[in-house]
Amino acid sequence: MFNNNNNNNNNNNNNFLSMKIVSQIVPFILSTVQKYQIDDSHAIGHAFEVLRHSHLNWKQSSLIYPSLLEQRDVIYTSALVHDMCDNKYVDEKIGLTAIQNYLYQYTHLTNPEINAVSSIISTMSYSKVKNTGFPDLGDYQMAYHIVRESDLLAAYDVDRSIIYNLYKIDSNIDTCINNANHLFKTRVWKHLDDSLFTTTYSLGVAQTLVDESYKQMDTWREIYPSTISTITSGYDLSK
Ligand SMILES: [Fe+2]
Repeated sequence: MFNNNNNNNNNNNNNFLSMKIVSQIVPFILSTVQKYQIDDSHAIGHAFEVLRHSHLNWKQSSLIYPSLLEQRDVIYTSALVHDMCDNKYVDEKIGLTAIQNYLYQYTHLTNPEINAVSSIISTMSYSKVKNTGFPDLGDYQMAYHIVRESDLLAAYDVDRSIIYNLYKIDSNIDTCINNANHLFKTRVWKHLDDSLFTTTYSLGVAQTLVDESYKQMDTWREIYPSTISTITSGYDLSK
């Protein structure tokens, strides 16, 4: 009984700290989004989606890798801030330094934990993995895959891709839909074949998201038939 109470106390303390880290980081995201005019596709909504997948994956993976239990705040933090140093919006080094300074000053994360966050978010992008493969992050390797894969899972949202194009590439909606379609055909729908997912959680969720994104793209084809008339998603809506 005494031990159970201790465990409950530990769980309560951990839950309190995780709430704390999220509440500590949200203001930083809001101010960074404003400062660098980060559009909706990579702003707070995206941070929350990556956090959600990371949490669910962390919960599942912790059953197999208990050491992950101690890395929760590193995972949550990496998920939340990962795009606040994205070179599409800010010089990567400047962005990363700002993140490190903030974490050091306004959170309870230790220096090794801040270093782990820095390593994860500076090596997890699709293009970096394509160019140099997965880094060796030692004890934080699983944490790395959880956050990286959560970001990839968030990429299956067709509307998000169109929104990014609208803000950053071209205000012409036709062009944006076509660009999104091209991105999905050449990249997003190949994530599984490209062996970019390693965790059980992501492998399970990805296939569902592939199917949903096919439907999403086909709906755009119905709304805008002339724009993506050449789309061949291969998804039959009647099925
Ligand atoms: Fe992202």
